[in-house]
Amino acid sequence: MILIVYYSGEGHTEKVATALAEKVGGRLARIEPVSEAGMFRKGMMAMFGMRAEIRPVKTDLADVDFLVVATPVWSRKVPPYVNEYLSKVTGAAGKPFSVLVEMSGSGAESAVEIVRKSLEAKGMRFVSSAVTVESDVDAGRFGPTIEEFARTIAPIAVPAA
Ligand SMILES: Cc1cc2nc3c(=O)[nH]c(=O)nc-3n(C[C@H](O)[C@H](O)[C@H](O)COP(=O)(O)O)c2cc1C
Repeated sequence: MILIVYYSGEGHTEKVATALAEKVGGRLARIEPVSEAGMFRKGMMAMFGMRAEIRPVKTDLADVDFLVVATPVWSRKVPPYVNEYLSKVTGAAGKPFSVLVEMSGSGAESAVEIVRKSLEAKGMRFVSSAVTVESDVDAGRFGPTIEEFARTIAPIAVPAA
């Protein structure tokens, strides 16, 4: 089972994650904050790598073969809700994962690194990453990026017999 877990404040990451789920036959799980912070606080919390409470969501990966984390870039890092999710992941050792980041213009590399380090510390195995840009997502121009990304996931999640 391919689990695609995502946070999306304004719907862009959700759009991309949904397209990916359709391509690879993945199951979607949305990270939802218990309460949304104001814009300034959001930026600060991300900048300082803080966590913030989220609603119950699938964090036990016992029945998951492949994890994809999809997140917007905030302050060249990731939202506090994503940090909280990553800290809660269990049953992850040895499993492969990929990272999808959505941004308006810069900071994708450092955001990918944050997710990568956090999951590698749990014994997971990094496979690939992809970046989408807000203006392309708004214009519906992210198909090729997702197709290429999906090709890195499917063969590993469903090995040929
Ligand atoms: C608090 C905050 C900080 C952000 N920081 C960055 C940033 O450092 N770099 C960037 O390219 N975009 C940044 N953005 C823009 C988002 O990554 C972009 O709007 C993205 O499309 C949002 O995805 P969503 O619609 O799924 O929430 C920031 C947005 C917010 C709300």
